[in-house]
Amino acid sequence: MNYKHDLAGKIAALLTSFDAKDIMGWMEYPANPDKGDLSLPCFRLSKTLSKSPQVIAEELKAALEDEHIEDMEAVSGYLNIFLKKSMFAESLIRHISQVGDRYGSQNLGQGKTVVIDYSSPNIAKPFHVGHLRSTVIGNALYHIHAFLGYNCVGINHLGDWGTQFGKLIVAYHLWGSKEAVNHRAIDELLDLYVKFHEEAEKDPALEDQARSWFTKMEQGDQEALTLWQWFIEISLTEFQKIYNLLGVKFDAYQGESFYNDKMEPVIKELKDKQLLEEDDGALLVRLDAFGMAPALMLKKDGSSLYHTRDLTAAIYRAGKYDFEKLIYVTDYAQNLHFQQCFKVVELMGYAWSSKLEHVAFGRVSIEGGSLSTRKGNVIRLENVLEQAIQKIRDVIEARNPGLVNKAKVAEQVGIGAVIFNDLSANRIKDIDFSWEEALNFDGETGPYVQYTYARTCSVLKKAMLPDGQEMQIAEIDGTCLQNKEAMAVVKMLYLFTERIEQAMVKLEPSIVSRYLIDLAQAFNRFYHACYILVEDTQLREARLALVKCVQITLRNGLKLIGLQATQEI
Ligand code: ARG
Repeated sequence: MNYKHDLAGKIAALLTSFDAKDIMGWMEYPANPDKGDLSLPCFRLSKTLSKSPQVIAEELKAALEDEHIEDMEAVSGYLNIFLKKSMFAESLIRHISQVGDRYGSQNLGQGKTVVIDYSSPNIAKPFHVGHLRSTVIGNALYHIHAFLGYNCVGINHLGDWGTQFGKLIVAYHLWGSKEAVNHRAIDELLDLYVKFHEEAEKDPALEDQARSWFTKMEQGDQEALTLWQWFIEISLTEFQKIYNLLGVKFDAYQGESFYNDKMEPVIKELKDKQLLEEDDGALLVRLDAFGMAPALMLKKDGSSLYHTRDLTAAIYRAGKYDFEKLIYVTDYAQNLHFQQCFKVVELMGYAWSSKLEHVAFGRVSIEGGSLSTRKGNVIRLENVLEQAIQKIRDVIEARNPGLVNKAKVAEQVGIGAVIFNDLSANRIKDIDFSWEEALNFDGETGPYVQYTYARTCSVLKKAMLPDGQEMQIAEIDGTCLQNKEAMAVVKMLYLFTERIEQAMVKLEPSIVSRYLIDLAQAFNRFYHACYILVEDTQLREARLALVKCVQITLRNGLKLIGLQATQEI
């Protein structure tokens, strides 16, 4: 079921001097149906073939043969191909209904492993909207790769080691209490952290105390480690609530502390490979030759850094997973960090350095406000999710008060809205979360796609057979779907597989969310233009089959980006 692929193969065979793959890359799906269903611009072929694009298009038109082609045109250097619409619709609908929830999947990744490092919040700090974006993008990439046949390993690289624990221990000793921490959990930890920074501005000696507590942790001091362990438990309980709400799971929680006993050999290896340089007592890898600041590996006092742990983690993962790709999902503020890290791996002589990818994304603000843990003006993610659920609940109360399962639906749609918002634009763009936009049922939003899905369910329910069975899609008559609106839906359905693959190649889940909006819009235009439950049996069955395929495709797509498909809203 890949017309582009098949036709590109035939064209390449006719031309001989080009690869089918190149031809396929140049072929387009014209936005205007008058220009064909597929089109090949012949400009790039012109030089090699020493002919004008128009002559090439005309020659191809005369020579190309395929049972799926209805007609061809050579216009202004383009070969426009018109497929046999009814055959196209019939075979696509047959295919989608046969494969069902596998529609869109492929075996591209068979036998290959992809490791994804995502979410990775910091212990004893709240989980904020930046971590949400990492969680949502990483989770989508996980599902997309898995759908394409890759073996996926999702790792939560928790920030569970570092000087912030020294700060927290100092603050706890000075201003905290066991009762308060037990009672207020992460809120108390956050307050202590904020208070530390306020006080340290007035009294810089606090910073020294914090550093020495962290050094104690690194040396295995029991008191320090017991407190640290306790802070971890409190934070994890809190994070777990959020992961449950989002429906996100990890294959491993391997935070920074996991590498504590694994760094020494790595430092030794760096030394042996003569990559380490001493600078005022600290050890670093110089990267001037590559236009980058040095990567600091050990501080003067011998303590490790974020870099030391990331380098160690990469080496550990390479040994354990033999990955095809190792993907890190963080905001672009860490671009330099990962460029340095990957460069050091390369300088160490590891060929797999080319398999490391930083999937950077833009900053998140909420209603124009930015976020900072140190100042305490963080908007807690849990509050955002709860508010989203509540607001959707109000909409449901107004629109469909009789809905059973209101609470569950509000949760699925409210959370879906927040997730979708994070995936609605290219990941590198900064995004602002606006309640009005994210929750709008008529906008380009999660609720819009979920609502469209519910609409397909309601149409199919109305068409149930007298015994309550869902109609089976058998063979349909494709000539019933030749009108403009129906064909636009058929074409969108066809593009699903290709779009998922693009999302995987570009590590860009927004390609899938954009696709879902396009499909939902095409479907809604069809729904408004064509009454579905008509008398004429053949026409009704063909239209219902199309609705069924939209339902399957929307559901598969929503799952890929981590949203639930809701039967009714
Ligand atoms: N904990 C870090 C932060 O919140 C993100 C960690 C990303 N993963 C990694 N391997 N460095 O900024």
